[in-house]
Amino acid sequence: MQATLETTERPANTLTAAPIKFERFQAAQEAELQARIIAAKKKLGNRLVILGHHYQQESVYRHADYTGDSLKLSRFAAETDAEYIVFLGVHFMAEVADILSRPEQISILPDLSAGCSMADMANLAKVERSRRELAKVLDFDATITPITYINSAADLKAFCGEHGGIVCTSTNATKIIEWGFRQREKVLFFPDQNLGRWSGYKMGIPLEQMPVWDPDLPMGGLTEAQIKNAKILLWKGHCAVHQMFREQNITRFRAEHPDGIVISHPESPFEVCLNSDYVGSTEYILKTVSEAPAGTRWLVGTELNLVNRLAEQMKPQGKIVQFMSHVICECSTMARIDPQHLAWTLENLAEGNVVNRIKVPEHEAELARLTLQRMLDAS
Ligand code: 13P
Ligand code: SF4
Repeated sequence: MQATLETTERPANTLTAAPIKFERFQAAQEAELQARIIAAKKKLGNRLVILGHHYQQESVYRHADYTGDSLKLSRFAAETDAEYIVFLGVHFMAEVADILSRPEQISILPDLSAGCSMADMANLAKVERSRRELAKVLDFDATITPITYINSAADLKAFCGEHGGIVCTSTNATKIIEWGFRQREKVLFFPDQNLGRWSGYKMGIPLEQMPVWDPDLPMGGLTEAQIKNAKILLWKGHCAVHQMFREQNITRFRAEHPDGIVISHPESPFEVCLNSDYVGSTEYILKTVSEAPAGTRWLVGTELNLVNRLAEQMKPQGKIVQFMSHVICECSTMARIDPQHLAWTLENLAEGNVVNRIKVPEHEAELARLTLQRMLDAS
């Protein structure tokens, strides 16, 4: 189940104007929108914090007070005192901000249609069904630690809380899977098979002990022997953006630039990770390339907005940053957060109207908070 979406809400006992309609922003010119965002932000002062993921387009990313990967942004959300947390990211990130902040703080997603297609590849009904099926061949709660990637709905984080599991991000997945094995002998990892496989591989787990669990097939499409032999059951899910990168992209780059260096996000296919020089989160990619010697050339396997921004930033140092694919791999859902939606959100807040609040029901939030806290403590 998704978090409640409250499209317009007024703080109690405040006299305010009627909510400003989004239509008024649709035809506005870019320069006007930028000026209105700056003005509304100034008016809100320290009542507002804007958190921005690295995949956001430059026209909104520039307004973020803090930027980061999922782990860094969840820490910011847990630490801020701001009344309003506006998330330039996708739905699960705003949910995490709501779960980790105090009850009186308000988490906002400027466009409610900014979801994550990978997160949607697992839902509670399918995960519960999988648990029941697995329970036919082993004692689920005694044998399996469920681990959900942070790219998942709050009710899946709550499921992990209820069944002794935990959340991970692309930064800490290996450490968290190790935590999982300290609790029980097997891990059910969802929804990203690529992150799970790469993390398990780095820990020395043979590929045949990491079979794919297809939630749309009876018993995940596996035999009883495969399930019993498995160390990590990998949910059949992936990121459509990172799935576009290919081993051949790397082969061609290395042939043309033998001194070139390859860096990828762990949501990329296994062969891409295997053939990369470095693999890590968005924050890790930015840090690694930024700290590299001048004159180096990089092939980067992650979302296009991040790569384009990095390429511009590295130019003065004589570093060349290339995108891994010839196909445009933009996160189309992140792109829904545009200057129109940001200006509309901030102007409403400045007028006392809360729009697009993301509120996770408390019974889910409590269990989800437990698993997120477990993750923050373990990483
Ligand atoms: P990071 O936590 O590495 O920023 O990844 C989030 C994400 O959704 C990548 O697709
Ligand atoms: Fe989700 Fe992929 Fe977009 Fe990341 S890049 S938010 S995993 S769809």
